[in-house]
Amino acid sequence: MAKQELLPLLYLSFLAALVLSCYSHERKVHIIYMGEKPQGDISVTSMHHSMLARVLGSTASAKELLIYSYGRSFNGFAAKLSDEEVARFSDMEEVVSVLPNSMHAKASHNKIMGLHGIQSIPYTGIWPESESFSDEGFGPPPAKWKGTCQTENNFTCNNKIIGARYYNSENQYYDGDIKSPRDSEGHGTHTASTAAGREVAGASYYGLAEGLARGGHPKARIAVYKVCWVIGCAVADILAAFDDAIADGVDIISVSLGSSLTLQYFEDPIAIGSFHAMKSGILTSNSAGNDGPLGGISNYSPWSLTVAASSIDRKFVSQLVLGNGQTFKGVNINNFELNGTYPLIWGGDAANVSGHQIPLSSESCFPGDLDSSKVKGKIVLCESLWDGSGVVMAGGVGIIMPAWYFNDFAFSFPLPTTILRRQDIDKVLEYTRSSKHPIATILPGETQKDVMAPTVVSFSSRGLNPITLDILKPDVTAPGVDILAAWSPIAPPSVYQHDTRSTHYNIISGTSMSCPHASGAAAYVKATNPSWSPSAIKSALMTTAYAMDPRKNDDKEFAYGSSHINPVKAADPGLVHETSEEEYINFLCKQGYNTSTLRLITGDSSACNSTELGRAWDLNYPSFSLTIEDGHRIMGIFTRTVTNVGFPNSTQPTKLASTSTGEKKSFSVRVDGPEITMHPIISGAILWKDGVHVVRTPLVVYTVLPSETFPNRSLSKRAQTSDLKGSSRIFG
Ligand SMILES: *[C@@H]1O[C@H](CO)[C@@H](O)[C@H](O)[C@H]1NC(C)=O
Ligand SMILES: *[C@@H]1O[C@H](CO)[C@@H](O)[C@H](O)[C@H]1NC(C)=O
Ligand SMILES: *[C@@H]1O[C@H](CO)[C@@H](O)[C@H](O)[C@H]1NC(C)=O
Ligand SMILES: *[C@@H]1O[C@H](CO)[C@@H](O)[C@H](O)[C@H]1NC(C)=O
Ligand SMILES: *[C@@H]1O[C@H](CO)[C@@H](O)[C@H](O)[C@H]1NC(C)=O
Ligand SMILES: *[C@@H]1O[C@H](CO)[C@@H](O)[C@H](O)[C@H]1NC(C)=O
Ligand SMILES: *[C@@H]1O[C@H](CO)[C@@H](O)[C@H](O)[C@H]1NC(C)=O
Repeated sequence: MAKQELLPLLYLSFLAALVLSCYSHERKVHIIYMGEKPQGDISVTSMHHSMLARVLGSTASAKELLIYSYGRSFNGFAAKLSDEEVARFSDMEEVVSVLPNSMHAKASHNKIMGLHGIQSIPYTGIWPESESFSDEGFGPPPAKWKGTCQTENNFTCNNKIIGARYYNSENQYYDGDIKSPRDSEGHGTHTASTAAGREVAGASYYGLAEGLARGGHPKARIAVYKVCWVIGCAVADILAAFDDAIADGVDIISVSLGSSLTLQYFEDPIAIGSFHAMKSGILTSNSAGNDGPLGGISNYSPWSLTVAASSIDRKFVSQLVLGNGQTFKGVNINNFELNGTYPLIWGGDAANVSGHQIPLSSESCFPGDLDSSKVKGKIVLCESLWDGSGVVMAGGVGIIMPAWYFNDFAFSFPLPTTILRRQDIDKVLEYTRSSKHPIATILPGETQKDVMAPTVVSFSSRGLNPITLDILKPDVTAPGVDILAAWSPIAPPSVYQHDTRSTHYNIISGTSMSCPHASGAAAYVKATNPSWSPSAIKSALMTTAYAMDPRKNDDKEFAYGSSHINPVKAADPGLVHETSEEEYINFLCKQGYNTSTLRLITGDSSACNSTELGRAWDLNYPSFSLTIEDGHRIMGIFTRTVTNVGFPNSTQPTKLASTSTGEKKSFSVRVDGPEITMHPIISGAILWKDGVHVVRTPLVVYTVLPSETFPNRSLSKRAQTSDLKGSSRIFG
């Protein structure tokens, strides 16, 4: 949903930055992360209480200040601590990291955790009465399910939504928050139904995009872990949701949220949670973020699946017809009928002078700028893309606004609206000024075939991977543009937050929407192959993806990774790249983590064989990324091991012959070439074929400046609070 709130959000994050920068000595919620959960019959809560009591000097305060005790899936706690107390915890040997309780943002607030299951869809919660979540035909939850349903405020579970919890560590509820797993915002319902909604015929957004709505894996059950509120999605709550979801027995975790900051793996609650999920055999699917080519990618840990957003073959258009017969095509969702022409006025000619000393410049039509006596009953031409509130407040009947720089996804508005290219706005303005009685109409919106699809949408975050250059991110792309899915009927149906209409299905865009497509596909692969590890499922989705057209995507693999998911092929990939926990540990050693930290994280006696930083060329990843220092020769040797999950007698041309299913074969890939300078990306792919299966792994080579070759890793335990300022962000 990200971009839907684009404009208001810019304001919000600005405010958040201002507020958070006020330094304070009070106790604030922090998370003390201590790695793997303790083995044996130990009460983690009393362990956490006594740790806290030691630092605070009082058992009573420890009880009062402890917010969460994590111990079902990993070890840690959240408590209100002063800076001095935080420093004392950071010095403790048993502490891996200390995180401030900053706010992450929804890439859409849903998380889906599947049990092929159970997908868990957290964030803003869910609207359980939606037809997409009817449990008709579903039997009782599987025996392995250990979750619960928090039923406050009328929330109900059924045999489709089998679990629901909510978390609010700051205990702050604002107008619009419902203290239950119920979704007042729409995102949670949208992402949950995209991953696992059942088939619903005749779904539409006020008649637009009408058809069968169906989630990625309609037979999957859903568990909801709501961590997002009006204020944002707090780190302590994200970790609490992972702690529960993993132990509850979900199969796939879908997380459409993230931070736009570059965080080390064990400073990032989603990377921490998905690491422990991986240890328990659960794949986490994440949004890549909505920061486009200029911002960084989110959720780049190698043990999770990072999903970019691409278009589908449908786009929304709305036409403007002027009194002189000129017509213009806009890209936006317009579900209204105007039935005739109306007077047209430029916002700049309709300034609200009442109560203002200095006349406003009103051409942007911001709320309060327009004079209702001039605008009432008219179509208003505005010069900024906004939520339409200014025109609504002034009683206008229609809105014309310029497109954002990119115009490759559609917003919907509270009034008949058309979003035109800048040059068309100028033509409309010319007509408005030159005509004595300018009139216009906005025709009911339509859908058209998008012949360019699929292309990665402008806002989808692009690689590089900011922490490990030699691991390609994103991993795949999936549909995330103009997606119709279930909606909360009490949430605004357009970008205007005070739109009081009610809809059960809505069309929104974001990597929040692409993530649950991949999560649904992952649940399908898991259902078809119940014994598969998270890395096998991820590999299957990556190696069977169908190739995107590099000519339509400037950033190539940095936009789409291994390309576009193909769920049916993914269920039978032929070969998979299995990556074990030990291999990730080995990788972390080369990333600069030491043996003592890794033993905490794994809970076993893992050891780093070397203290040297190293390249990630031998992590058994289903793609290849080679970073070359600018001006140097291309040189890299990758080793990989594939497991045969296809025919027992498969022979992969020249190299790999397998005699049984489950057999593992290793190979190496040597990449050698001349010196290159300033090369953003050279790409190709390695294909394995057995006559039925095609296993495709992309290979990219690119240059970075010498200073970037090995990003300087200062692995401090304490995540810097100042780094986290204004981190609130919503992925669409
Ligand atoms: C609970 O549901 C009933 C019946 O649908 C409704 O009348 C009531 O207002 C709801 N209460 C809350 C707190 O949502
Ligand atoms: C246009 O006509 C339709 C169908 O009669 C009606 O539903 C709609 O409200 C009308 N629109 C306006 C702006 O009057
Ligand atoms: C015009 O400005 C006044 C004073 O700020 C405000 O109260 C009023 O709501 C504005 N009118 C509109 C239509 O926004
Ligand atoms: C360390 O070396 C041993 C023996 O060569 C090997 O079995 C083990 O997997 C290695 N551990 C790591 C973390 O590389
Ligand atoms: C391998 O086995 C499959 C299924 O048993 C068979 O269809 C195929 O022809 C065999 N391929 C080779 C190369 O022997
Ligand atoms: C990290 O930064 C320090 C200080 O700037 C520098 O001395 C060191 O060489 C850097 N390490 C790496 C691996 O770049
Ligand atoms: C391991 O690394 C952590 C920082 O991540 C550091 O605090 C700790 O002292 C290191 N331990 C050893 C034994 O070097």
